[in-house]
Amino acid sequence: MSLELVTAGESHGPALVAILRRLPAGLRLEREAIDLDLRRRREGYGRSPRQAMEHDEVEVLAGLRHGATLGTPLALLIRNRDHANWAWGMSVWPPEGEPQGKGVKPVTLPRPGHADLAGALKYGHDDVRNTLERASARQTAAHVAAGAVAKALLETIGVSVAGRVVEIGGTTDEQGWKAATDAARTDRDTLGGVVEVRADGVPPGLGSYGDKGDRLDMRLAGALMGIQAVKGVEIGEGFALARLRGSEAHDEIEPDRTRSSNRAGGIEGGMSNGEPLLVRAAMKPLPTLMRPLQSVDLETGEPGEALVERSDVQAVEALAVVAEAAVAWELARASREKFGGDAIGDFVAAHRAYLERITWRPRTR
Ligand SMILES: Cc1cc2nc3c(=O)[nH]c(=O)nc-3n(C[C@H](O)[C@H](O)[C@H](O)COP(=O)(O)O)c2cc1C
Repeated sequence: MSLELVTAGESHGPALVAILRRLPAGLRLEREAIDLDLRRRREGYGRSPRQAMEHDEVEVLAGLRHGATLGTPLALLIRNRDHANWAWGMSVWPPEGEPQGKGVKPVTLPRPGHADLAGALKYGHDDVRNTLERASARQTAAHVAAGAVAKALLETIGVSVAGRVVEIGGTTDEQGWKAATDAARTDRDTLGGVVEVRADGVPPGLGSYGDKGDRLDMRLAGALMGIQAVKGVEIGEGFALARLRGSEAHDEIEPDRTRSSNRAGGIEGGMSNGEPLLVRAAMKPLPTLMRPLQSVDLETGEPGEALVERSDVQAVEALAVVAEAAVAWELARASREKFGGDAIGDFVAAHRAYLERITWRPRTR
């Protein structure tokens, strides 16, 4: 039995929705913990004023009673507060009354680097907004809410997950990040960066070498590549390993079965190996530029400048939170497969019995 997640919701539609299936019953959730992650996602030095407007808060519609899961689908909702300004433009039913507010004028100038062109062609949209509303990273708020639930599940077996920024615009410390962001903002340009997610307490044996689709590294890479603007994923020392000799690259096994190095990032043979899990994701510079790139008007065929829509200079700090949620979700999914559990007590007991069998203790560093 595997956890399942489906999300829906347009960027300026009424709300985002997430449905989480097969959580054990009896898992205690805290609204504040979910809202805290939603707030962390919105914050960051390079983000646009849109973020200040959102004030995301989770509403739970089903699957929870008195703060504990029921073992039935958990339905989460996050309202888009900005929808009020788009009520006509993003009305789910044919709008009534005079056109007013935002989103009234069709978008015909696709932005390079976005889903705009391929999406409009693929789905036959005359108004590119029909693509960009869902392709937008606004949907990551729903994934962050699901990630907060996954972290609550992982906490019951002593697993913690944390994302952090490694690089922004090629700089590696906070001063550099701010300076690079300010400079890009002045130039009406954008930046990308690198984030790292670390998970501690992950027991050996999550995932499997049995088949490609069971490999934990494949799932983590897929989950991270599934985030908008992520163009590279590294497990452990990843690309640097390609330049080393085997004698320099692998983590030798100590008598107590731990390792003195962790270049593999805690995964061997598609399974966690008991060392801290380390994964990195590279984010391209955001594609909506305040100094727009060249495009074509899909209606007239004339050259023109791409749509300018309120946008971030960089969203690397936000990506750290979104990537953390993605890793947490995959680890929770792999844990649920390994330890089962219709009730949370079964899940925790199976984990404890497994650790006793393999005599493994999480590393305390
Ligand atoms: C947290 C987050 C925030 C983002 N914010 C913006 C933004 O403000 N403006 C923008 O053009 N792209 C933003 N993006 C990136 C685009 O959503 C993404 O580049 C686009 O949908 C095309 O998908 P692709 O880059 O995966 O090919 C953001 C991505 C993430 C993960």
